[in-house]
Amino acid sequence: MRYDFDEAINRTNTHSVKFDYTREYFGTSDLIPMWVADMDFRTPDFIMQAIRKRTEHEILGYSIRPDSFYQAIINWYRERQDWSIERDWILFSPGVVAALSMAVNAFTREGEKVIVQPPVYHPFFSVIKDNKRELVYNTLLEEEGYYRMDLDDLKQKIGPDTKLLLLSHPHNPVGRVWSPGELKELADLCLENNIVILSDEIHSDLVFHPHVHTPLSTLSHEIADLTVTCIAASKTFNLAGLSSSAVIISNEKLRTRFSHEAQKGHLYMGNIFGTIAMETAYREGADWLEQLLAYLKGNAALLTEYTEANLPGIRVRSPEATYLAWLDMRNLGMKSKQLRNFMTRDAGIGCNDGPSFGPGGNGYQRLNFACPRSTLQKALHQLKRALDRR
Ligand SMILES: Cc1ncc(COP(=O)(O)O)c(C=O)c1O
Repeated sequence: MRYDFDEAINRTNTHSVKFDYTREYFGTSDLIPMWVADMDFRTPDFIMQAIRKRTEHEILGYSIRPDSFYQAIINWYRERQDWSIERDWILFSPGVVAALSMAVNAFTREGEKVIVQPPVYHPFFSVIKDNKRELVYNTLLEEEGYYRMDLDDLKQKIGPDTKLLLLSHPHNPVGRVWSPGELKELADLCLENNIVILSDEIHSDLVFHPHVHTPLSTLSHEIADLTVTCIAASKTFNLAGLSSSAVIISNEKLRTRFSHEAQKGHLYMGNIFGTIAMETAYREGADWLEQLLAYLKGNAALLTEYTEANLPGIRVRSPEATYLAWLDMRNLGMKSKQLRNFMTRDAGIGCNDGPSFGPGGNGYQRLNFACPRSTLQKALHQLKRALDRR
């Protein structure tokens, strides 16, 4: 079956954060929302059908996750990422951010240090600060729009009370798929210093050929032993509103500590529709995902080519993964507030503001291109007109 990603679907008045929270967030709703990381494409028909089928039984009581749920996860990761996951390693979390927060509590104590690699997805900061841990920045190095980890800086910053590192893999917002070599160097440093790595792999299905995602845990037994991996079908299949994800932990001690946190917060129940959607996505989603990736790749090409040809002062590299583009607008010479106003008022586009991603974010905007191509074209034309008028 061919899926239609060109269809423009009106999302306003659906209680969508991306569409219905724009006035509160940007001060205007008269813009194209290209911020929150969900997609403007229909959630796949086979998932909607599975949800509809369940609604035919009109009792929505407490539910369990059946064996088939776990098997669907195991099969998907074995086939797509060459990763052998055992049934017992899989824990539930009502979303990846909730899992990050549980991990901070499970693997560190108040006052201990947690490392992040900015510019990075902003809840990485709040889960550390809100739990009264110390946030340590290991800022990424940027050259010509290409990002690398700064392990020399990391070495300087590791101390006896450094207990956890939050890794975004693939990285939001810089779009890198970390290579096995880069991951190994990072993990070796963490092994030497007894630091647990929380590898947030929520974007790992959204990787563009020829790049290949290597789950951190697959590098070696020792590395698997210090790794806690977050996975979800929510970005890939547009299910974020169902608040469902999984945490994979092969090390029994780490798993017990994490489970204890989940129990403390009574966060392990989940919801019927999240379970059904996740299982169905992993069982039936391969073909849909291939088509989605091809479409997104087309959007990324449009974005990069148009920017290069028509948007002087803006630079963007095609991401290796994710539907998020990291626009380097530093050459426009605008201060943060001015840039934000330029985007929202002059160009009429609602992106995420670079500084919210921490150090290294000044002068950047994050643009979500998981939308029909016509929407992206419109946004790019608006941006060009706004630049021409300056
Ligand atoms: C790296 C990363 N982690 C986690 C999330 C959110 O996950 P969840 O909605 O499951 O909490 C996002 C959403 O954009 C993300 O980009």
